[in-house]
Amino acid sequence: MAAIRHTDPAAAIQVEPVSRILARAAVTALRAPSIWNTQPWHWRIEHDTAELRADRRRQLSPVDPEGRLLTVSCGVALHHARVALSADGVGVAVDRLPRADDPDLLATLRCTGPQEWSPDAQRLRRALMVRRTDRRPFADTRIPERTLDRLRAAASGAGAHLQLIGPQDRTTMTVAAGHAAAAERADPAYRAQLAAWTGVRIDVGDGVPLDTMAALGARPVPIRDFTGADVGPSIYSGAEPVDRGATYGLIVTDMDEPAGWLVAGEALSAVLLTATTERLATSAMSDLVEVRTARLLLRRMLGNVGYPAVGVRIGVPEPGAAPRRAPRRAAVEVVEVVGEPVEPPGAAGD
Ligand SMILES: Cc1cc2nc3c(=O)[nH]c(=O)nc-3n(C[C@H](O)[C@H](O)[C@H](O)COP(=O)(O)O)c2cc1C
Repeated sequence: MAAIRHTDPAAAIQVEPVSRILARAAVTALRAPSIWNTQPWHWRIEHDTAELRADRRRQLSPVDPEGRLLTVSCGVALHHARVALSADGVGVAVDRLPRADDPDLLATLRCTGPQEWSPDAQRLRRALMVRRTDRRPFADTRIPERTLDRLRAAASGAGAHLQLIGPQDRTTMTVAAGHAAAAERADPAYRAQLAAWTGVRIDVGDGVPLDTMAALGARPVPIRDFTGADVGPSIYSGAEPVDRGATYGLIVTDMDEPAGWLVAGEALSAVLLTATTERLATSAMSDLVEVRTARLLLRRMLGNVGYPAVGVRIGVPEPGAAPRRAPRRAAVEVVEVVGEPVEPPGAAGD
């Protein structure tokens, strides 16, 4: 694991086996999706414990002034790490937001010893390795109800809810997404930040490369236009709509505060990975909740029960090549392992 940073790179150190297991999970969790592919987290591993911290330098202030989506993204990484550990047969005790005086410490994971091998965890880990955001229009094929039930169960198993949007609420989604897009497009700070995080070369390590985007087309619920164009295609333009087969959902939490946002990320991860095991394609949608009025509109749609934390688009992918893989940061920037200094030979008893 040469790519991981150790606290004192100059010293000869040894890393405990349990720290290695945690480090491997943290490296696997680098595959987690995140808002604009910012990967805004940091892992510090010492003995049998991994600490997950928010990396505020990567917070998208105009889009995410309170750090909601940063925290959701860290929740996704937390769930990915848990999946990796579970697939390795390692039990962990998770403590979320363990210290009130240290709000950036989002979670600690302490290894509790071996746990029973689970085929579900293996399936989720395989999904984790192949999942990618798919922004292309989906096929006009309905998702079976029992599969939707599995997605709902995945979210509730992670502590939040997946609220699937029925035909009666589709128009509210259209209005919320359209309103959010217009409000963000009109904001120069948003446009500047979008330009800074998009169109990056595939080898840079973060951001949203242009070749992971899809032609927008006139969609019933518009997705974010990463190109920053002045006006996107619209269903009101008379163009033939695409992506009519997509199913939309909202990850809804019981709390509108960091503990809720973290759990929302875990639930989002559980839904995305479960959908992948069902050969479905997905993309997250957060513009819906970035703009306060759009968020409130969705909350009203939910009858003011629960808080929409992030949107998700799910569907049957059209045949064809998978979307390009978005880049990831180097493990050395994200994972730090504290090792024990190695005593030089003969030093004992000096
Ligand atoms: C909290 C969160 C919000 C996101 N918001 C959007 C969004 O509004 N529109 C979009 O197309 N993708 C969105 N994404 C997907 C990311 O852009 C994507 O995960 C990232 O670029 C990495 O690509 P990958 O998912 O293919 O690994 C979001 C992901 C997360 C976790």
